Amino acid sequence: MADQRVTWYVATLSAIIISVAAGIGSKGGLILTKLIIPQWADLRSSVTLYCQFDTGGDSLYSVKWYKDDHEFFRYTPGLSPQTLVFDLDGVNVDESKSSASEVTLYPLTRTSNGNYKCEVSTDAPNFPTVVEDANMSVIAFPDDGPRIEGLRPLYSVGEFLEANCTAKMTFPLAQVTWFINNLEVDSYLLERYTPEISEGPFYNSTLGLRFPLKKEWVDMNKKLMYVKCIAKVAGAEPKTDETSVRLRLIPDQTLSQERHILNAGTAINNHCAIILIISAVYYYEVYN
Ligand SMILES: *[C@@H]1O[C@H](CO)[C@@H](O)[C@H](O)[C@H]1NC(C)=O
Ligand SMILES: *[C@@H]1O[C@H](CO)[C@@H](O)[C@H](O)[C@H]1NC(C)=O
Ligand SMILES: *[C@@H]1O[C@H](CO)[C@@H](O)[C@H](O)[C@H]1NC(C)=O
Repeated sequence: MADQRVTWYVATLSAIIISVAAGIGSKGGLILTKLIIPQWADLRSSVTLYCQFDTGGDSLYSVKWYKDDHEFFRYTPGLSPQTLVFDLDGVNVDESKSSASEVTLYPLTRTSNGNYKCEVSTDAPNFPTVVEDANMSVIAFPDDGPRIEGLRPLYSVGEFLEANCTAKMTFPLAQVTWFINNLEVDSYLLERYTPEISEGPFYNSTLGLRFPLKKEWVDMNKKLMYVKCIAKVAGAEPKTDETSVRLRLIPDQTLSQERHILNAGTAINNHCAIILIISAVYYYEVYN
């Protein structure tokens, strides 16, 4: 028994020593600290992908970038030229903005969609390598939008409010929603228009707002109603446009409305008081 244990210790110890001597243990020195690849990239902008690493004191051998497993950029500080760009459909590298830890793509196309991978190696024995990947989807945010149109700055109670919110030239189709005082507007107050489709395809989507203005929707202290439109393209951060409309109050209307609100507030209290009095009288009559 004891003999076996000793043999086991010796074997383990030799394995560790051999590993360290072979440089396998030094792989722990190189780490990929951060890979930043946006999940959604705007077709009309450039995108910069970041691959940050720590060589743990070893010298960098290469940084290689792949899209769907095809290499498109290589940075090797020890070789000349230091950077190499490989032709790949949908991948246009801006070499002036690409280096050891970042690569900028411009212009983007729909085929820029895909899986991006960064691979870093040091020239320590056995060229230890770290790899990480992420997916990126190309979308088109609203071109200069969304935009709220047709809204006047001033309305009276009962006046018809009509406005459109339009998200132009998006890909895919934008989901447009209206909010009043930060509450989503019910669909019966909306007017849906068929999306326009331009070549690409790109979509123009318009959602209308149509309703007679009610004072319940106005902040009566500020005489304002806050209106916001949100356009969401795929899963990306939504874009918004917002404004506020003022309520014009005829002096008479102001008074009657404020009284109305006050009455509504005190009505319940009055009822309670009356019920209490009736109960008290009843109690007195019955039990005395
Ligand atoms: C990327 O997308 C592919 C296919 O949709 C999926 O199988 C893979 O898990 C995704 N990779 C990452 C890192 O999200
Ligand atoms: C809203 O858009 C529709 C369709 O484009 C148009 O017919 C309507 O006049 C617009 N309404 C306003 C208030 O701009
Ligand atoms: C969508 O809007 C853009 C920008 O206003 C316009 O140029 C284009 O013609 C519109 N598309 C269609 C199909 O009407």
